[in-house]
Amino acid sequence: MSVLAAEMPSISDDELSRFADFFYRKTGIRLDERKRYYMERRIVDRVRACACHSFADYFSRLKFGGLGNELEALINEMTVNETYFWRENYQFECMTRHMLDEIARTKRPGQRIRIWSIPCSTGEEPYTIAIHILENWARADAYDIELLASDIDSNVLQRARQGFYEERALSRLPRHLRERYFKPFGPTRWQVVEGLRESITFGPVNLSDPKETARYREIDLIFCRNLLIYFDDVSRRLAAANMFDCMTPGGFICLGHSESMSRISNLFRPRQFAEALVYQKPSSREAA
Ligand SMILES: C[S@@+](CC[C@H](N)C(=O)[O-])C[C@H]1O[C@@H](n2cnc3c(N)ncnc32)[C@H](O)[C@@H]1O
Repeated sequence: MSVLAAEMPSISDDELSRFADFFYRKTGIRLDERKRYYMERRIVDRVRACACHSFADYFSRLKFGGLGNELEALINEMTVNETYFWRENYQFECMTRHMLDEIARTKRPGQRIRIWSIPCSTGEEPYTIAIHILENWARADAYDIELLASDIDSNVLQRARQGFYEERALSRLPRHLRERYFKPFGPTRWQVVEGLRESITFGPVNLSDPKETARYREIDLIFCRNLLIYFDDVSRRLAAANMFDCMTPGGFICLGHSESMSRISNLFRPRQFAEALVYQKPSSREAA
């Protein structure tokens, strides 16, 4: 019996399990049965927002496309978007101390270095990457650095483009960098300066869908942090293969601290730097 039964038509175990399978096929995310209350509350909000008279009515119209852009709204509702500036900072230090130099050795000055933050959530991660490069990589001006940022959730992308943040997101960012790259907006909000906002290209991508990731090619460095924890092994392997196809040989991937590529796929080789363990697509020479 649903906890929410008194407030609205309940969702049976069988319905919830079919819904979870559908959501998994669309996103790669395995909804956690232990978070049933969280899941149900959000589904109920969507059923109400679509003025459906029952969950069954909502689910059948959703599946057959009878609710317009509802799938997008549902995904936006169900995703976990937790993020903040300077998160797992050692990886950004590793980027500016080692990985960018290695990538640059395969290019001529002036050539493009392409970095992709997926998932970028509300933008804290790609802005952190940009600030780190500007502050800490002396050769930044010698290359054409392209910074791309993607997420499946269209709401967070909209917020990322606007670049407004509060204390909670900014608390780990060193104060002098806040002064340099943000303008105060009222007593509690800060906005990323326009030049920095414009230096990042935000766009929607489902990492589980090879048709969507196919638009991204020749990526030299991917930050894919704190997403694979929501996937099962099948969708993790698919995500790894999709990222592999997007990357240049010799390119690097950084995962979240509780995520490991070695357990998922042997496409990449681990590289242990002083600051961080990262993963690398073999160079053309190694692959031959
Ligand atoms: C916890 S946030 C991680 C944000 C950032 N990378 C970090 O580590 O701080 C997880 C994000 O993954 C996104 N997401 C979930 N499934 C996705 C998918 N299949 N493709 C792309 N992004 C996805 C969610 O919308 C959410 O914003």
